Amino acid sequence: MLDIAFARSALPKSGALVLLAEEEGGTDAIRAAADNAIGNAISRALEAAEFKPRPGKSCTILAPGAGLSRIVVVGIGKRSDLTPRVAEEVGAAAAAALSREPTASVAAAGLSAELAAAFAAGAALRSYRFDRYRTTEKPEDRPRLAKLTLLSADHAAAREAWTVMRAVVEGVHLARDLVSEPPNVLNPAEMAERCRALSSLGLKVEVLGPREMGKLGFGALMGVAQGSSNEPRMVVMHWHGSSGGGKGKRARTVKPLAFVGKGVTFDTGGISIKPAAGMEDMKFDMAGAGTVIGLMAALAGRGAKVDAVGLVGLVENMPSGTAQRPGDVVKTYSGQTVEVINTDAEGRLVLADVLWYCQEKFDPRFMIDLATLTGAMVISLGHDYAGFFSNDDELAQRLHAVGEATGEKVWRMPMGEAYDKQIKSDIADMKNVGGRPGGAITAAQFLLRFVNDKPWAHLDIAGTAWASKDDAVVPKGATGFGVRLLDRLVAEHYES
Ligand code: BES
Ligand code: MN
Ligand code: ZN
Repeated sequence: MLDIAFARSALPKSGALVLLAEEEGGTDAIRAAADNAIGNAISRALEAAEFKPRPGKSCTILAPGAGLSRIVVVGIGKRSDLTPRVAEEVGAAAAAALSREPTASVAAAGLSAELAAAFAAGAALRSYRFDRYRTTEKPEDRPRLAKLTLLSADHAAAREAWTVMRAVVEGVHLARDLVSEPPNVLNPAEMAERCRALSSLGLKVEVLGPREMGKLGFGALMGVAQGSSNEPRMVVMHWHGSSGGGKGKRARTVKPLAFVGKGVTFDTGGISIKPAAGMEDMKFDMAGAGTVIGLMAALAGRGAKVDAVGLVGLVENMPSGTAQRPGDVVKTYSGQTVEVINTDAEGRLVLADVLWYCQEKFDPRFMIDLATLTGAMVISLGHDYAGFFSNDDELAQRLHAVGEATGEKVWRMPMGEAYDKQIKSDIADMKNVGGRPGGAITAAQFLLRFVNDKPWAHLDIAGTAWASKDDAVVPKGATGFGVRLLDRLVAEHYES
């Protein structure tokens, strides 16, 4: 991760310098000093470029003199509109403009501690790159930005705000790493090992294998897994952060928040096999689980004052002589039976067992599941909003609000009996597909049958888990969508 430091405000003598320019605002002391040192080259360049300081717009002056390698002026828009979300985007734009510079200083005197931390988070999020499998890339072709120093009078408070934000950014990066890993490396067992490693953050991690899940009666999850020689896993991560963390003497029994993720480490479709074109994308079919893991790391990393559990169902969906067939009937952990019409509608089968286990075992305050569940969701909302479904208006309203605040936007989709009818089966309690109309909705109706009246929300992140181009705080590739959203939900509404 990008190294972020904070220091007292002073004109740097080398490296790159970032200046923030506001609409309808004056200049700060560092900008004035820098401009003065280089014969007003900044003012002249901005004028020549007809620069308008809209948020995230930047103007670069190369080799300006005074020992500096470049000056990047980034617009922040109107001061009164400068929210943490905008500050993140400004930080991201600065990082993008600095990719050729190993070190840079940011004249951040005008930013509150909260906004400075947000700026840092945006820069760190945008600088993410998954390059562990590039062995022949020349060092000079690599992005170079390694260290960003924010200069402000309030640097101690900004540093403190950043230590909290940093844990969240680390969670996002962990989710992105998991989603980026190729499917031959990240199979269910490997993914479970990556979860186990999080015990160093104070998470309690439990891993169940095929024998345990078979014994429990996870017929739906095991049916999906049976075609692959890579064994399934379910991982339960516990975070006990309420009542003052480890110091609390009384072991208060607080109902935890619960997060559940679909972790199909590769989805071929199974016997209902997918077309070859684009099938490689289905390595990201574990993004729901990746987000849950990243979120749990974020909550633990920042010491969230809350009790939470994260559960992920990890399987590989393969066609083989042992694979399940269209027409098979499986018995879920809940006891309900499912006719498997299409083996490619596997995510809901995995989630059915994990959701039921979750509510039975933990009696949580709410359950939120995340899944790259349906192509229909991508058709409905595209790549900007994730669709979500809920049986609880308060939870839905909160999710929508934190979506707007974080920029991880979510849009509520309808549910209802008419849709539920689409998954009636002639032979079992339900079937696993409801036809093409409302495909994302009938998938949600399927999940609802395993929720048992708990407040619940289902986020279908099929369209938002992967980005095909760079955008603001999200570089092309795995997005880590949902970590910041749910971290904010917890922070704003559920921490004691
Ligand atoms: N993992 C896919 C959904 C998906 C598709 C995610 C494209 C991201 C991009 C899921 O398991 C799936 O195959 N769903 C089927 C369901 C259908 C068979 C009812 C789909 O959406 O086509
Ligand atoms: Mn599928
Ligand atoms: Zn899938």
